[in-house]
Amino acid sequence: MALSQLHALTSPVDDQQLRALQVALKGMSSTQIAWVSGYLAGIGSSSLPAPAEPKAVETITILYGSQTGNAKAVAEQLGSQAIGQGMDARVVSMGDFSPRKLTKERWVLLVVSTHGEGEPPENAYALHSFIQDQGAARLEQLRYAVLGLGDSSYEHFCRTAVDFDRRLAELGAQRILPLQCCDLDYRGDTERWSTDALDRLSALAPRKPSNVVAMPGLRSHQEQGRNQARPYDKDNPYPATLLENRRITTPDAVADVRHLALAIDPGALHYRPGDALGVWIKNDPALADAILTRVGLDGETRIHLGDEELDLRGALIERLELTQLHPTTVRAWTERADAPELTALASNTAGLRAYAGERQLIDLISEHPAPIDAPALVALLRPLQPRLYSIASSQSEYEDEVHLTVSVVRYQAHGRDHLGAASGFLGERLGRDESVRVYLAENDAFRLPDDGDTPLIMIGAGTGVAPYRAFLQQRAANGDRGRNWLIFGNRHFHRDFLYQLDWQAQRKAGRLDRVSLAFSRDGAQKLYVQQRLREEGREILRWLDAGAHLYVCGATAMGQAVDRALVDIFTTEAELDPDAAQASVDTLRREARYHRDLYA
Ligand SMILES: Cc1cc2nc3c(=O)[nH]c(=O)nc-3n(C[C@H](O)[C@H](O)[C@H](O)COP(=O)(O)OP(=O)(O)OC[C@H]3O[C@@H](n4cnc5c(N)ncnc54)[C@H](O)[C@@H]3O)c2cc1C
Ligand SMILES: Cc1cc2nc3c(=O)[nH]c(=O)nc-3n(C[C@H](O)[C@H](O)[C@H](O)COP(=O)(O)O)c2cc1C
Repeated sequence: MALSQLHALTSPVDDQQLRALQVALKGMSSTQIAWVSGYLAGIGSSSLPAPAEPKAVETITILYGSQTGNAKAVAEQLGSQAIGQGMDARVVSMGDFSPRKLTKERWVLLVVSTHGEGEPPENAYALHSFIQDQGAARLEQLRYAVLGLGDSSYEHFCRTAVDFDRRLAELGAQRILPLQCCDLDYRGDTERWSTDALDRLSALAPRKPSNVVAMPGLRSHQEQGRNQARPYDKDNPYPATLLENRRITTPDAVADVRHLALAIDPGALHYRPGDALGVWIKNDPALADAILTRVGLDGETRIHLGDEELDLRGALIERLELTQLHPTTVRAWTERADAPELTALASNTAGLRAYAGERQLIDLISEHPAPIDAPALVALLRPLQPRLYSIASSQSEYEDEVHLTVSVVRYQAHGRDHLGAASGFLGERLGRDESVRVYLAENDAFRLPDDGDTPLIMIGAGTGVAPYRAFLQQRAANGDRGRNWLIFGNRHFHRDFLYQLDWQAQRKAGRLDRVSLAFSRDGAQKLYVQQRLREEGREILRWLDAGAHLYVCGATAMGQAVDRALVDIFTTEAELDPDAAQASVDTLRREARYHRDLYA
C-alpha cells in the first residue's frame, strides 16, 4: 500500500512528518526498508513498558557463501524477511565471519553456492576448510539449516552445501530443516525454503522484535541505489548502451576477442575493480528459426511460461536456454526419439553429461528427429540465464562506462557452425547505440588490498587478464605506490596479446614493475603461465614475503595448474615438504591474500 493511502486511512502522523518519511525512504531497496522497519520497531518498543516476563533474545545469523552474487541476494532477502517478521537477524558473508565464532552461535542459516569443480566459493573457503578439519570443534550448541545454490549440469551439484550440511551434523549440530539444493532457476525453491526455515525458527528460537542489526551486505545496495527508487540488480537490470565493439586479437588469431565499452549512468551502477557484469541476452533468431524448422512448429504458436503468455519464437529467443544442452533434456528426448545410441546413454550419467556438453539443442534434434508439440518443447528447456563478464575498467577512470573483454565462442561441430549465445550476441549482434540489460555481480573475494603499498601479483590467461586492467587503472587513480607484476598467457604474442598498449602505457608510467609472458604456440614447445610461474618461483616467494597479494583469473583448469605450481614453488624454493607447501598455499587463501576468479 502506498504511504499516501495509508495516511488517508489510519495515520497518526501529520502531513509534514509524512513528507519527511517519504524523503527518508526514497531510493531505498526493499531490504533496506525492511531493515528500517525493524529499526523503527526497536525504537518504538523501547519506549513501551517492559514485558512482564522478558525472554532471552536469540540472534539468527544468516551466513552466505557466494561468488557471483546469487546466494548473497538470497541471503539478504532471507534476512529482510526475518527482520520483517520481528526476528533479531544478521546477514554476514562467510568471508567476514571468523570461523572460530561458530562455536558461539546458536542459530545459523547457511546459503551457499558451489564453484570450480565442486569447490566452495572463494569467500566460503576458510569456513569450509575450518569445519572439514579433523580436529574441528564440536558444535552441539548449534541449530542450523543449509540452502544450496548450484547448477545440476555440473557433476558435483551443490557439493559445498552438501559438505556443510553433512559436516555440521557430524560435529554435533542439530539440523532444523533438510538441506535444499536449488538449480539455476532457484527463485521458487529459495522462497519456499526461506519461509519454511523462518517458520521453523519462529517455533524454536525465543525472540523479540529486532533492534539495530549490522548487515554488511547492505553497503553495496546503498551505493548502487543513490539516485533511484529501486536499485538495479539481476531482476531489475539496467539498460546499458553499446559505445564500442573493437576486436583486440588480429584477424588471423583463432580467438576472436572483443573490447566492449558500454555507456552507463554512474548514479545507477557503481562498480568496483574485481566485479563482473551480468548480461541478459537474446538468443540468435536464426538459431530459433532453425529449431522451429527442425521440429516443424509454427513460431507464432501461443505458449505459457509461468504466468506469461507469448509466442513460441519469442520464448525461444528471449526466455529459454538454446545453446547449453542439459543432460535431462537429452534424457527426455530419448523417450521421444527411436535411437538406440540415446537409449544406452539414458542410464549412464557421465556419458549423458559428456554428450550434452558437446552439443546444442539443434544438434540433438537434428541427429535424432522426433515429433514434439510446442508446450512439450518449452517444457524440455531451461530458462535462459544471464552470462557474466569480468569488468575491465575502473570507474575512477571511466565514470560513465563499463568495459568488457569478450571472447566470442565460435566453433564447428556436428556438421554446423556454433556460436555462443551471449558472446555471439555481444560480439556480433548488438549494434552501436543499442541497449543491453546488465547488472553488477559483485565479487568481494577479488578486491584490491586496502593498503595501496601492497605489492600485487596478477596471473591471467586469455580474457582472465580483464580485471587487471581495472586494477591498474584504479591503482593509478588512487596514487597507490605498491609494486605490480603481471603474468599473462595466451596463444601468440603477435595475435593475442590482449591490451598490449595498455600494459605498455602502464609500464611507461612506472606502474607496472614486472611483466612475465607465456605464449603457448610461439615456440617449439608449449609454454603456459604455470611454467612461467615455476621459473620465477624465487621471485614469487620474495614478493609474497614482502606481503604481496596474488590473483588468478581465467579458466578453471588454468587456475588448478597455477595452484599446483604454487605448491611446487613452496616445495622447491622454500624447501618445504609437500604437506607444508600445500599448507602455506592454503594459508594464503584463508588469509585472503590469494584470490581466485575462475570460470569455464
Ligand atoms: C565470473 C565470470 C567471469 C567471466 N568473465 C569472462 C570474461 O571476462 N570474458 C569472457 O569472454 N568470458 C567470461 N566469462 C565466461 C562467460 O560468462 C560465458 O560463459 C562465455 O562467454 C560463453 O558464453 P556464451 O553464452 O557465449 O556461450 P554458450 O552459448 O553458453 O556456450 C558455451 C558452451 O559451448 C560449448 N562449447 C564451447 N566451445 C566449444 C567447442 N569448441 N566444442 C564444443 N563445445 C563447445 C561448451 O559446452 C560451453 O559451455 C566469465 C564467467 C564467469 C562465471
Ligand atoms: C565457474 C563456475 C563453476 C561452477 N561449478 C559448479 C559446480 O561444480 N556445482 C554446482 O552445483 N554448481 C556450479 N556452478 C553454478 C553456481 O553454483 C550457480 O551459478 C550459483 O547460482 C552461483 O551462486 P553465487 O552467485 O552465489 O556464487 C558453477 C558456476 C560457475 C560460474
